Amino acid sequence: MKKEIEVKVCCGTNCYIMGGSELHLIKEHLTEEIAQLISLKGENCSGNCHDFSRTQKPPLAWINGEMIENASIEKLKKEIVARSHK
Ligand code: FES
Repeated sequence: MKKEIEVKVCCGTNCYIMGGSELHLIKEHLTEEIAQLISLKGENCSGNCHDFSRTQKPPLAWINGEMIENASIEKLKKEIVARSHK
């Protein structure tokens, strides 16, 4: 049995207006087999979007704890599909 893939999407204002709102629809862009492996959660702003010493570009998402900056549906999809084969 394949392992669950935890996907967290930032719901903070910076990430939301930079495209994060569409990331919540990621399951619609995956095959049914892969979508059922996904545990999708919203996260509050972690502060990474406005910490200029780290300069993470919003929108931010996390896949199994690994931060994805400048996240897009295509970027998340690629990362999720790669992890679904492990
Ligand atoms: S709004 Fe997403 S990390 Fe701040």
